[in-house]
This record gives sequence, structure tokens and C-alpha cells, in this order.
Amino acid sequence: MVTAAMKQVKMKTASPASSLDPYRIKQDFPVLQQQSNGRPLVYLDSANTSQKPQCVIDAINKFYAHDNANIHRGVYDLSIRATKAYENARGTIAKFVGASRPEEIIFVRGTTEAINLVAQTFVRNRVGQGDEILVTAMEHHSNIVPWQIVCQQTGAVLKVAPINDAGEIILDAYREKLTAKTKFVAMTHVSNALGTVNPIAKMIELAHEKDIPVLVDGAQAAPHIPINVSELGCDFYTVSSHKMFGPTGVGALYGRLDLLNAMPPYQGGGDMILSVTFEHTTYNEVPYKFEAGTPHIAGAIGFAAAAQYILDIGFDKLIAYEHELLDYATKSLATIPEVRMIGTAAEKVSVLSFVLDGVHPHDVGTILDQQGIAIRTGHHCAQPIMDRFDVPATIRASLAIYNTKEDIDALAASLKNVMEVFR
Ligand code: ALA
Repeated sequence: MVTAAMKQVKMKTASPASSLDPYRIKQDFPVLQQQSNGRPLVYLDSANTSQKPQCVIDAINKFYAHDNANIHRGVYDLSIRATKAYENARGTIAKFVGASRPEEIIFVRGTTEAINLVAQTFVRNRVGQGDEILVTAMEHHSNIVPWQIVCQQTGAVLKVAPINDAGEIILDAYREKLTAKTKFVAMTHVSNALGTVNPIAKMIELAHEKDIPVLVDGAQAAPHIPINVSELGCDFYTVSSHKMFGPTGVGALYGRLDLLNAMPPYQGGGDMILSVTFEHTTYNEVPYKFEAGTPHIAGAIGFAAAAQYILDIGFDKLIAYEHELLDYATKSLATIPEVRMIGTAAEKVSVLSFVLDGVHPHDVGTILDQQGIAIRTGHHCAQPIMDRFDVPATIRASLAIYNTKEDIDALAASLKNVMEVFR
């Protein structure tokens, strides 16, 4: 006889197809073990920021409780230990993104700072009046505004490669936009507002055929797709720790070593110098040349713990499970007639962006919150995408490895309740 308790256990066992157990993974995340508005918290806003596993929290706590000192400065044991932990973190991030050397990893505040760094120290010096910087129509504001600033400073022009109605890059149009005037390409790996995975290997290849350097914004890709910058051959790649189960306020810029060596510093201050007089300063070597001031040491250590957490789970398992979950969620939302999905690319990860006919997205967000469901509503810092699809905002559920089919069932049931009220 199958008892209710046995059914419960059966239901809470991961599908053999994926062999990743999301219920076990969920246990690693203390914040998910709580109620919100009297209901079990259903967290579906990981594209905004992900939750943090206990091992990341422990790594940060351990640093502050046992190893805290400033780095690269002290000759005493504590500082040497702190320096070692920070530089080991750099090595882990290099491994995570497939960089061939740790020096190619610059610790920054996040993807936004990484893009601004490249814009001001690499691209600004290389463009002039009438030159072009190419982005795609699916960029986050952080991969638009830094280029607009460079264009204002230099007279260069921002060009945009279009997307189709599914939210996919139109490769032929992208190819046509790569002209003799194009001096730089900046593109997202995964769209935060649509979930589209760009064919970046092909896009990099097409740009490189014309000797155009490329930056890839990998903020949304890092927790879902294995990254190998060496195989991709991109010139720059950016990640944000907080999107991939690490702390906020830290991220990494990968840059090709020859490019980083040739670039001027981004900010001046301590640690980025070899010697200073009032007349002249000589700069430190890469990566320190780009890390002025005391960095977010504990953040880098937590970031590395998060990267190692993902590597320990294994991308094979992670991808199989997330694919299964996204498929389940897509089919589940398709049973609600009023749902119109924004972003239906063939290659997608983790994001369900949609509108509900007749209901404002913010109303949906508020009602879902009362059911303990956290989703993001708005333009997702990607207003041009909203314009492209002619909507002011979308409702976005974004998934991570700790989400379960029950989370999706709760979302679908609540959306059906919303429609009962508004119909
Ligand atoms: N990039 C963040 C998001 O997609 C803010 O929600």
C-alpha cells in the first residue's frame, strides 16, 4: 500500500533523468527555509539576485572570524593568510571561467563595473568620431549606458543588432552590422529579461574575422552554462558573484592578458602602484594595476566558494535539471490562456518573462507576494527590450537549481487565482 507519507517522499525525489536533487540542494540555502506572508517562501527571482548556500556564508564568516587582515601589505602571518585566500579565490574564478592564467581575472564590484572598466580603459582610447560600437537589442542597461557614455566622450556611434519576435539575435543582420567602422562589440551571453542564450561562439567568430574585439556580459549565464573563455576566444568576459550564489558587491572581469597589459589603469590608489612620487607614478602589474584600494576580500573568498559550489554540483547535472524545470514551467504557464510569453527562443535558460492579459504586472507581483511567491515585475533594467515587444513591463519568474516543480505549481496556481479575480 502506498501511504500519503510514501507519496510525499516519492514526490520529493529528484527525477532520475537529471540526478540532481533540488530538495537536497534547497537544504543548502538557509534563507529558503522560511515563510513569507504565512506561506513557505517560493523564491523565483534569481536573475535579480540568487540566494546563498551555507558554504558561501561559512567561507565569509571564517574569513572575518579567523583570517581577516589587509592583503598584499602585511609581512605577518594573518595578512599572508588573507592574501593567500584572496589569490586562491582568483585561481578558482579563473578555473570557473576557463581562463588560462589567474592574472587574467580582475576582481571588480560586478559586471557593471567590469563593463565600465573596459569602456573607459580599452574602448574609449580606440574610437573616434563616426566609429561604431555594436551591441544587441537584448542588452541590460549596464551593457548599453557605458557605451553611450563612451560615444558622448568620443563622437562614436552606438549601433544595435536586432532580434526577432522570439527574442533571438538575427545573425544575418548582426553580420551586416559588423563593418569597417565597427571598433568594438559588446553582447550578453544570456538575456536577463528573455532568457535567450546567444550563439556567442559564432558571434565572436564573426567579429574576429574583421579584427573587432568582443566583450561578453556573462552575468546571467554564469549560474546556468559552463563558461570557457579560452575556447570562446573572447577578449573580455564579465561575471557577477551575486547572480551565481555568491555575495553582492564583487564580480570578475576576464581580459586577455596582452590586452590588459596594454590598458591604462581604471582607478588610481593604493595597491595599483609600484612607486609614487609627486612627479611620477609607475603602475603595478596586471591584475593589481586594476584593483586600486582595499578590495572586497571577504567577497572574493565568498565568490570563489560559490563558484566551487557550482563546480562541485557539476554542470552536466545542473543543465539537465534546469532544462527539465524550465520545460515543466513553460508547459505549466501555457495552460493559462491569458499568459503571453515574452521571449520564446529555442535556446533559453531559467527565465519566464510574460504578461497576463488585462492585469498590470505590478498588481500580479503584489498578489503573488501575499502568497509567499517572490517574482520580479517591471522592465528588468532592460527598457529597450520592453519597447521591442511593445509592453511597459513583464512579470518575470527566474529559476535556479534550488527551485522545484512545487515552486512552479505554486506560481501557476496563484496566477490562476489572479485571473479568477480579474476576469
Ligand atoms: N539584472 C537584474 C535583473 O535582471 C537586476 O533583475
